[in-house]
Amino acid sequence: MGPGILTRPFPRVGGVLHCGGLSLEELATTFGTPLYVYDIRRVEACYRGFADAFAAAAPLIAYSVKANGNLSILSRLNALGSGADVTSLGELFRARQAGIPADRIVFAGVGKTEAEMAEALREGIYAFNVESRGELERLDAVAGELGMRAPFGLRVNPDVLTATPHEYTRTGHAAAKFGVPHGDVVELYRWAANRRHLRPLGIDVHIGSQITDTVPYLAAVERVLDLVVEIRSHGIDLEYVDLGGGFGIRYDSEEGMDVVALSAAVLPLVHGSGLRLILEPGRAIVGDAGVLLTRVKYVKESGGKTFVIADSGMSDLIRPSHYGGYHEVERVDTREERLRRAVDVVGPICETGDFLARDRVMDLPAPGDLLAVHTAGAYGFTMASNYNGRRRPAEVMVDGDRVHLIRRRETLEDLVRAERPEALNTETLPE
Ligand code: LLP
Repeated sequence: MGPGILTRPFPRVGGVLHCGGLSLEELATTFGTPLYVYDIRRVEACYRGFADAFAAAAPLIAYSVKANGNLSILSRLNALGSGADVTSLGELFRARQAGIPADRIVFAGVGKTEAEMAEALREGIYAFNVESRGELERLDAVAGELGMRAPFGLRVNPDVLTATPHEYTRTGHAAAKFGVPHGDVVELYRWAANRRHLRPLGIDVHIGSQITDTVPYLAAVERVLDLVVEIRSHGIDLEYVDLGGGFGIRYDSEEGMDVVALSAAVLPLVHGSGLRLILEPGRAIVGDAGVLLTRVKYVKESGGKTFVIADSGMSDLIRPSHYGGYHEVERVDTREERLRRAVDVVGPICETGDFLARDRVMDLPAPGDLLAVHTAGAYGFTMASNYNGRRRPAEVMVDGDRVHLIRRRETLEDLVRAERPEALNTETLPE
């Protein structure tokens, strides 16, 4: 969110970090660690910040479920009028379970299966954002079998190279796997316009993630709206323009995307087109509303370094090791003074790449200390795994002075639930 729009969540009160009216120390004692804690009021405030900034366009805000798909969070967003950007049958299922109406759901992704297409058609989603000719042909066939017309927009690869913190989060350049090459788009709409089971409804673009500058969005909108003019000149009218997500937030010292400035830049162009605006923010809604709490187990010195070994690591939050992502790490209770020291905060997993922070100057933690890993609300739990046989953390949601356990910690049974002992497995391959 833009500078000064919202104050920082997780305030320090009397030397102890809080969420809403509750001490993080107490939450960790009650629910154990590692623990994801979300401030739902912050989530709601971020959503409203977005909705207000773009209110003049009455957009469909299709929250990107991949950032954080917990049902409780989705259902709160649904109550505010949010739709959903989903990318699999699993995310579609979550969104529907949370009560998000199908006609507020858009379906993205380069590899949609026939089963996903059929289910989304039966559910009656608003639109498929289609990423290749092959996918469009497949969608035509699946819709034909169901006797339906599939509403779609092509995801345009605008060939805009966007500066994101890591190359893995850039999607808008020609050499990325995403979208239909800019030069092929008009021809593909013309082909689709003659297919009985396809309904060209809109156009889509998503240029990357953690973008803090409005300029690349403006460039992408201009490129896409130029295409709309050309598409319309062939008698094909469109209803929506989807600008995707990617709006950056503050992790370290960077300023997050100023959504008011973004809307001021983008809305005049969208208004002129007469198209319905869709936005797919994920991180900007939930990112800074979440912390990961982890307890320090051991502190050791080796090779001139100080390792703080915590009870959480890359299996719970993979962003530091996968993208070199920065997450602020601090002691929850700072009432006791400590020396400042450069440390590596690492996890218990058997990988050198298992760290939450590297060469970080912080109050030297001691065993038993509770640490808060900030800005973990987006792409934290959703990217967590069971690697090293670890049970994924519990998630709690704080609403003012109240806390709700919104996902219990996994059990050992959960880890093996889908497996069957070989002796009971009677399925064989056909001769
Ligand atoms: N729409 C589409 C089509 C997307 O692919 C994405 C994210 C979004 C919306 C939401 O983007 P957001 O507003 O959250 O930036 N795991 C990475 C981020 C990957 C984003 C993938 N697509 C990370 O932890 O930084």
